[in-house]
Amino acid sequence: MPRLRVRLRVNGVEHELEVGGGERLIDTLRNRLNIKSVKEGCSTGDCGTCTVLMDGEPINSCITLTAQANGREITTLEGIGRPGDPHPLQITFAELAATQCGYCIPGIIMAAKSLLDRNPNPSGEEVRWMLAEHLCRCTGYGRIVEAVLEAARILRSR
Ligand code: FES
Ligand code: FES
Repeated sequence: MPRLRVRLRVNGVEHELEVGGGERLIDTLRNRLNIKSVKEGCSTGDCGTCTVLMDGEPINSCITLTAQANGREITTLEGIGRPGDPHPLQITFAELAATQCGYCIPGIIMAAKSLLDRNPNPSGEEVRWMLAEHLCRCTGYGRIVEAVLEAARILRSR
C-alpha cells in the first residue's frame, strides 16, 4: 500500500511521518505520537470523544485521515496546559467536579476551548449547543456547563 509523507504540527511540535492512506488521525496521535488524552468512543463521528482541534476548529479524529491533516496545526488536551500550569478549563472541570469517569472530558474540553476562543462570553445555551456534539454517559452535563462558564469568567478576568 502506498505510503504518504505528511507534516503535522502537534501541540507546537513539528512531526514528519510516513502514513498509509487509510491511517486515521486518532491512531497517529495515540499510537505513534503517544498522545493518550485522545479517546475513542463510537468510531463513527457521533460521540465527540475523540475531538481535537485542527487549526483551532474541533474535529472528530476518528473520522479524519492523517493525510487530511497534512500541514495543519493539531492541538490536544496536552497542548493547552500542564500540571504546573493548567488551562482554566482544566482547573474548573476538576474543582467543580464536572467529570466522573472522565472518558469524554478531553474531547469536551477541546470543544469548549474552541468555543471560548471564538466567544469569550458564551451563554449557558451556547455552551449546551456545543455539548450537543458530545455524549457523556455519566455526568448529566450540568456541572460541565458550569465549568465552561466559570472558565470563561476566569479567562475574561485575566
Ligand atoms: S470516537 Fe470519534 S466521534 Fe466518537
Ligand atoms: S464523565 Fe464519563 S462519559 Fe463523560
